Amino acid sequence: MLLKNHWYVAAWSEDVGRTPLARVLLNEYVMLFRGLDGAPVALENRCAHRNLPLSEGRLVGDQVECGYHGLVFGRDGVCTHVPGQEEVPGWAKVKSYPVVERDRWVFVWMGDPDEADPALVPDYHARLVDPDWYAVSGQTLVKGGYRLVLDNLLDLSHLTYVHSSTTGNRALAEEATLIVEDGDDFVRVTRWMEGIPPAPAYADYGGYDTPIDRWQVSKYIPPSYIDICNGSTVAGEGLPQEERPSSLGRWGFVVYHALTPETETATHQFWAIATHRSMVPAGTEATFTEQMREVIAEDLAVYEAQQRAIDLDPETRGEDVNPRGTIPADDALLRMRRTIRRLYGEERRA
Ligand code: FES
Ligand SMILES: [Fe+2]
Repeated sequence: MLLKNHWYVAAWSEDVGRTPLARVLLNEYVMLFRGLDGAPVALENRCAHRNLPLSEGRLVGDQVECGYHGLVFGRDGVCTHVPGQEEVPGWAKVKSYPVVERDRWVFVWMGDPDEADPALVPDYHARLVDPDWYAVSGQTLVKGGYRLVLDNLLDLSHLTYVHSSTTGNRALAEEATLIVEDGDDFVRVTRWMEGIPPAPAYADYGGYDTPIDRWQVSKYIPPSYIDICNGSTVAGEGLPQEERPSSLGRWGFVVYHALTPETETATHQFWAIATHRSMVPAGTEATFTEQMREVIAEDLAVYEAQQRAIDLDPETRGEDVNPRGTIPADDALLRMRRTIRRLYGEERRA
């Protein structure tokens, strides 16, 4: 169930340049490059003549020359030259995708180009370019469906079991109060914990040696974006609910994910974990970076193992939600799935 009429992150800005970049996005083969004016361009990565990916060819100014028989295509995907003849046949064109670049992400519109409104680009990751913030970021091709990654980020009780050396401890899974909210264009789950022992990373960076109040607010934005605010304070000083989605308190960090399905069972995961520079004291950046990369790798092992198990079980294959039942911690991820199903139905009807 892939939603087409949305902006998806296709690449980090720094990965798009004057060398063609090939990438499968929502089952479509796409090629990205920068035009002479520096703006990113996305074209169908399949020559209209005999299917050689255009990324195997070369850029000639603002155009792409196919590496097989030399047909040349402009930024709009229309062929401008066929070697050895004057005329360019009408069929000689490839799809050109609307593109927007914002705060280090290059977004591509995968659906009907007439509906590609730049105002719809999700705008929640400006801290990636804020000099006052320290961001660890990366990109992974997950061998798992995008909803498995969303599930993970909407149920942070898993920190206890998957990230116990850094951000999780027993109290986090056992003692949280859950607040789940949703609307047409979001699902938000808050985990709120009072007077719990600090997990290892909170003790190390936050300097806590007494119990803390801690909050984790995960927000899902369709089709597949996640914004998480993790905050903490000394026990008794925790913030009211309305301030938790945007405040780190004394120590915390934000997590951003943009998930772009490659196929139904593989996902481009563009991720970043960022915190205010004051929360990563000088000299600890390298350790923080290493720990956050470890957290991402721990989750990756989970999604990929889940996908392997799902693929072997015909009963759960496809929708990848447990047909036997659910637990209260699943509330947010079930609402996320309902949102995706609703949007998918709307797209099909349109
Ligand atoms: S396949 Fe591209 S020019 Fe022939
Ligand atoms: Fe995790």
